[in-house]
Amino acid sequence: MSRPTFWLRCEKKEFEKRAALTPTTAKKLNDSGFDIIVERDEQRIFNDSEYEAVGCKLVENNSWPSAPKEIPIIGLKELPVSTEPLPHTHIQFAHCYKNQAGWIDVLSRFGRGNGTLYDLEFLEDDNGRRVAAFGFHAGFAGAAAGALAVAAQRRGEQLAQLNPYANETAMIDSVKTALGGSGKGVKALVIGALGRCGRGAVDLFRKIGLEEDDILKWDLEETAKGGPFEEILDVDIFINCIYLNSKIPSFITRDTIVAAGKKRRLSVVVDVSCDTTNPFNPIPIYSINTTFSKPTVGVDLPSELLPLSVISIDHLPTLLPRESSEQFSSDLLPSLLEFPKRDSARVWTDAHKLFQKKLGEARTAI
Ligand SMILES: NC(=O)c1ccc[n+]([C@@H]2O[C@H](COP(=O)([O-])OP(=O)(O)OC[C@H]3O[C@@H](n4cnc5c(N)ncnc54)[C@H](O)[C@@H]3O)[C@@H](O)[C@H]2O)c1
Repeated sequence: MSRPTFWLRCEKKEFEKRAALTPTTAKKLNDSGFDIIVERDEQRIFNDSEYEAVGCKLVENNSWPSAPKEIPIIGLKELPVSTEPLPHTHIQFAHCYKNQAGWIDVLSRFGRGNGTLYDLEFLEDDNGRRVAAFGFHAGFAGAAAGALAVAAQRRGEQLAQLNPYANETAMIDSVKTALGGSGKGVKALVIGALGRCGRGAVDLFRKIGLEEDDILKWDLEETAKGGPFEEILDVDIFINCIYLNSKIPSFITRDTIVAAGKKRRLSVVVDVSCDTTNPFNPIPIYSINTTFSKPTVGVDLPSELLPLSVISIDHLPTLLPRESSEQFSSDLLPSLLEFPKRDSARVWTDAHKLFQKKLGEARTAI
């Protein structure tokens, strides 16, 4: 009998250096009886040779359309827009289950090709928690960007373009250097501190040298009294990491910022949650998502007040492609090991049912 196989495709999304399968995970799969085929990819943070060294078979970049139909294709982000039917089984983030722009076109490609989509965002454990997510490194990178923005403001500058870091140590060293050797003395408030993103933000602050008492960690209990919260104005960096699922009072408003006048300490807000266009966004002081090339947007305030910058980048883990891929891929591994039993393994049967439901909705909507 042939060995179960995954085909790791290249990523075509700009700036995307992350991988759904890392050499570490590929080796573990290999040791467990899988064959791993890997498309060569210059864009990926992992060198082709790292996969070759752990026994993967290397194939040409973007050659998955001609892969045997029975081999599942694994990738991370959306495929480039096209109308080509998709006959394979794809495991990836497709961003088409919440009626996002183009969702019908994406699902229709699977319908016409008789292919299957297992969307990584909807692989859930028995408690309904995602089996793998990038949250921790989103918070970690968001906190780093926030600290860099504080350092830039201290120099009277705006934070310049952010580029992915080779690894976590390089990111930490760069932030510490920007802050004059250590983050000691910087004060931060993290809301959603018990979640994945929140824990990542707290970890970064510890690693760049903030005192433990200067990292305020809030979650549901602390915000139960209802905002806006004066405490946010008394720290240097406020990081929002909540999972928003209902209408809640704002955490901070332009009025509270203006009312604080020159007493305000707050200079940077990082909205990791990025509910930018959500009508319930608890940080209604900005209205755009910022980017790696222009990471901050200023809050519109009277000129005599200290500037206040917001960072609202919605793909922060890309700043740490190696570590975020390693964590994601290792969390995904137990489910991947069950993939050969996908017709009975709950994580996969649930994801398949959801795909069929969404495909039906797309067909009805045409
Ligand atoms: N910007 C990015 O690049 C990026 C990347 C990954 C995730 N995210 C987003 O970050 C958000 C958080 O993701 P996560 O994986 O950390 O979620 P999570 O469920 O692990 O954690 C969310 C935390 O927020 C807390 N929370 C919820 N409502 C709150 C409230 N009103 N007050 C205080 N705490 C509250 C929860 O108790 C929980 O501890 C999501 O919206 C996710 O889409 C953004």
